[in-house]
Amino acid sequence: MTSFTVNGQPVHYKMDPETPLLWALRDASNLTGTKYGCGAGQCGACTVHIDGKAVRSCQITIAAAEGTFVTTIEALSRDRSHPVQQAWVAENLPQCGYCQSGMIMAAAALLAEIPRPSDEDIDAAMTNICRCGTYPRIRKAIHRAVRVQAGREKLAAAPPGGIDPEDAARTVPALTPPKPSPKPKKLSDR
Ligand code: FES
Ligand code: FES
Repeated sequence: MTSFTVNGQPVHYKMDPETPLLWALRDASNLTGTKYGCGAGQCGACTVHIDGKAVRSCQITIAAAEGTFVTTIEALSRDRSHPVQQAWVAENLPQCGYCQSGMIMAAAALLAEIPRPSDEDIDAAMTNICRCGTYPRIRKAIHRAVRVQAGREKLAAAPPGGIDPEDAARTVPALTPPKPSPKPKKLSDR
């Protein structure tokens, strides 16, 4: 059994100790915000924090994570209010979104280490791959997150995930919003 802390909770994995952390997080802990891209340490889609540092979770076994504190995108903040998350929304950054949780985790680790990174610092730290080419917006959003983190700019927290069924129906008329199900009758009403 391998034990460490995930998002503030002590976790014991009864898995092969050589299992990559990525699969323990996704398959055993259902933390699917951490993505599988290449499985070879190249793309960064699987980036999480281990003891505050950005780590590619496909490249570390759960045995190697024993005793550490792991944080995934789900726990970067309780209400999507981390300065990086706020700046990402304000810059309308993601395109398909697949790489973005890894990008956000890498950017958050960078700002924790270097509160005012230069463009060179950003280029050195953000080696994740985005097949949609969002790189210029990423650099801009990181500079904006710096201002938010320093209290020089105020932004709203990112909205909750998911699509409101009525909004979806307005955009795609073929969709019909589900009708609220009738309340079951009480026995005394029959
Ligand atoms: Fe881990 Fe690509 S999936 S670096
Ligand atoms: Fe599509 Fe990065 S936003 S891969």
